[in-house]
Amino acid sequence: MHWGMKNRLSRILNPKTGHCVMLAVDHGYFQGPTTGLRNLNTAVDPLLQYADALMIASGGVRGWIKPEMNKPIVLRMSGGTSILKELSNEIIVVDIEEAIRMNATAITCSVFVGGEYEKESIANLAKLVNWGEKYGMPVLAVTAVGRDMARDARFLGLASRICVENGAHIIKTYYCDGFEDVVEACGNVPVVIAGGKKQPEKDALQMAADALKAGAVGVDMGRNIFQSDCPVGMIKAVRKLVHEGASVEEAYQIYEKEKK
Ligand code: 5RP
Repeated sequence: MHWGMKNRLSRILNPKTGHCVMLAVDHGYFQGPTTGLRNLNTAVDPLLQYADALMIASGGVRGWIKPEMNKPIVLRMSGGTSILKELSNEIIVVDIEEAIRMNATAITCSVFVGGEYEKESIANLAKLVNWGEKYGMPVLAVTAVGRDMARDARFLGLASRICVENGAHIIKTYYCDGFEDVVEACGNVPVVIAGGKKQPEKDALQMAADALKAGAVGVDMGRNIFQSDCPVGMIKAVRKLVHEGASVEEAYQIYEKEKK
């Protein structure tokens, strides 16, 4: 692996442990003004110091994030769809030159295995991987799940492995029973979990802990952090799990304390 690629990866994944807490705030790229993210700046600002990286769309960076922000950016490169239409019909909307100008540390797109535009979304990933290998830019692949699809280990393992085989450097997928099989399907490629829909805080922490136990290196979580009644408490609690190996109860106490 090229030095530049290794260097960028080490800015996202802790070089000693390989673990990471990414904060995902790219939701507006297909769902518009998302609850908790209506003002990206005020939502993200208090959380940034606890995040290892920020997953965000290019317009989100330009419109709301201060240029002196010093966290690694995982830049969403796919788009072109909205919640009003077929979500799998994405294209790549950002050039690699623009990602480099924006000082992105990694680039990302969604892959819709089993979706109507499966092939096109895999081609989007392949395009990012070819750019990534050329410029030393890691690619995070998101295994998107269609509304009617089962989020089980068989499907998520299939989708994740397809992303690995197409060259992704980090996989972002969803937690499910038998998550060890999903991690195993990814070989040496690190796996992080999305949080999915907002759950009670303790349940979200339990899910993150279970994913870590099954071999995930961390989280790339959005709604379960920024839609919490105490987003700072929640990200601090997640950090405690990921970076300190705390128990769910210990992490939950961090959230409760911050809430008070
Ligand atoms: C959308 C994404 C989001 O970043 C992802 O869903 C993470 O956020 P959440 O934890 O809210 O699910 O990749 O495709």
